[in-house]
Amino acid sequence: MPDLDREEHRASLPSSDELAAFVAEAEQTIAATGELRQLEAVRSELFGRSSVWSAWKRALGGAPGDQRREAGLALNATRDALEAALDARVGALAVAERAAALEADRLDLSEAATRGWAAGHLHLVSQVRTDLEDIFLGMGYEIAEGPEVESDEHNFTALNMPPHHPARSNQDSFYLDLGDRESFLLRSQTSSVQIRLLARKELPLYAVAPGRAYRRDTPDARHLPAFHQIEGIAVDRNVSFADLAGTVATFTEAIFHSAIKSRLRPAYFPFTEPSAEYEVTCVVCGGSGCRTCSNTGWIELGGCGLVHPNVLSMAGVDPEEWSGFAFGFGIDRVAMIRYQIEDIRSLIENDVRFLTQF
Ligand code: DAH
Repeated sequence: MPDLDREEHRASLPSSDELAAFVAEAEQTIAATGELRQLEAVRSELFGRSSVWSAWKRALGGAPGDQRREAGLALNATRDALEAALDARVGALAVAERAAALEADRLDLSEAATRGWAAGHLHLVSQVRTDLEDIFLGMGYEIAEGPEVESDEHNFTALNMPPHHPARSNQDSFYLDLGDRESFLLRSQTSSVQIRLLARKELPLYAVAPGRAYRRDTPDARHLPAFHQIEGIAVDRNVSFADLAGTVATFTEAIFHSAIKSRLRPAYFPFTEPSAEYEVTCVVCGGSGCRTCSNTGWIELGGCGLVHPNVLSMAGVDPEEWSGFAFGFGIDRVAMIRYQIEDIRSLIENDVRFLTQF
């Protein structure tokens, strides 16, 4: 640091050697200062009120006129040069400090790179849904969508389940605090999309609607309160039960493989008549009987049937002119059967050790 002892310099103007020494020392100090904060302290030590430079400046007042002018110019030039040096150093340090901060924040990703960690991929359920969509697109179906928040009308009434219909109680629903009491709910089945498609009145109609459905079920190995279904509806002239059976057989083989067969068993659904449950060969034992299929050789996958005339006429479609079939099954269940997953809850636990297997 320059000599800051003010007493020593009080009265006299600096010689040119003294000025040169002051500049040289100040330049060294500036160059040796490594932090922005310290640099501001250097600035005030060099030019503050108690600095050598300020003492020299004060001495100007008592100096003879000719010396005063020359010395004043020299002092100002000295100050300008050193201020410029200080500013340059501030700029350089700011750049260096920023670079150091960036370096400190840098993430070392080399481990990830050398381990070859890949980007993520679609969830198993999304993969199966996409496969199903491809299969039905290949069969000439369109992919449709409907809202998850659905009116009671679409979810039940228009599907031939008027209020107090006993079949409603099989699908204990999440009603929403919207509109009239129990008039909106999280749809309990994707069958509600059938009604929206029929309402378009663009016939013939061949569509599937994959999506989420919700029921007030306690999660266990086979149930989740939010799950996935795919709904299908075909409405055309002269659609028969044989068309339905052929369609189910065809997509079952496409979803699984040719050794997996389907069969239909009489059942009841309010929106189809006749109705059937459809089952597929147990993938675990190939049909010979095991624990998974309770020794029957078959696993139930979904429901289907010929669209009930009431459903068609409520939607404004003439059941004398048009007939149709519908089906619906669980997408999560297809994933479980295909990959022999024992507990449906594995699908939502987000454990990467599970997810990366698919
Ligand atoms: N919606 C029914 C359920 O969730 C499944 C179903 C049965 C869909 C028969 C259909 C059908 O389209 O025809 O249990």
